[in-house]
Amino acid sequence: MILILFGPPGAGKGTQGSRIVEACGVPKISTGEIFRDLAAAKTELGLTAKSYWSTGKLVPDEIVVGLVKERIAKADCAKGFILDGFPRTVSQAETFDIMLSQSGNKLDGVIDFEANVDELVRRLSGRRTCDNCGATFHIITLPPKVDGLCDYCGSELIQRNDDNPESIRTRLKEYSSKTEPVINYYVSNGLLHRVDADRLPDVVFNEVLELLKTVNCGASKEALVG
Ligand code: AP5
Ligand code: MG
Repeated sequence: MILILFGPPGAGKGTQGSRIVEACGVPKISTGEIFRDLAAAKTELGLTAKSYWSTGKLVPDEIVVGLVKERIAKADCAKGFILDGFPRTVSQAETFDIMLSQSGNKLDGVIDFEANVDELVRRLSGRRTCDNCGATFHIITLPPKVDGLCDYCGSELIQRNDDNPESIRTRLKEYSSKTEPVINYYVSNGLLHRVDADRLPDVVFNEVLELLKTVNCGASKEALVG
């Protein structure tokens, strides 16, 4: 199964993606996470990319495409993968199609998570992420049991560098000018499934499970029955 999770910042791509991984057993590749890891490792590429993403700007296509190509060639992607946050420009979508046809693969679907802008800002402003295991919380809607600490590994929760008001504004603008046009690209080839992500995470996930029944997901019957 090859699936794309699409949608604006804060729509819940990461939250739903982790659940899909559990149901389908294929890896989730988040380009945003790759960039944050490279920045933490202080590699040259990581620091160059950080100069874009920390302000909310998209990282240039040539950097993103190279990293994705390298990642999906790894052995764990042989049975499929889920992309979270790629492609984010029409040029990336076109290049991804070429990558897939060169490797004899095909895209099974694109899930477009949509939520209204006020809700997106509220989610991003209150998000806290575990510095160690990457688990995501929200100070109001999904608070950790102990303030500031991860429920799963006990590590410190941090606020992402790009979750400040100015970067959030830029990310939303970048989304509407450069990423939203990708929706039409996938509508035209019949692969787009829209999901109203303005609902509780469990409700959204139930709809995702219904959709997964229609693609070659590989999930166990139990998971899909939910
Ligand atoms: P990336 O890390 O992908 O960030 P993003 O697209 O801005 O999306 P987020 O991760 O902020 O949100 P999400 O949709 O995953 O929501 P989440 O589940 O966490 O990319 C970061 C940056 O890297 C980009 O801005 C760009 O600069 C660069 N980049 C990455 N890919 C690129 C590419 N292909 N090309 C160029 N540049 C690229 O949820 C958010 C919060 O809401 C959480 O607190 C969660 O608990 C809560 N929540 C989730 N679902 C619900 C719900 N249903 N109800 C209530 N709360 C909810
Ligand atoms: Mg995310």
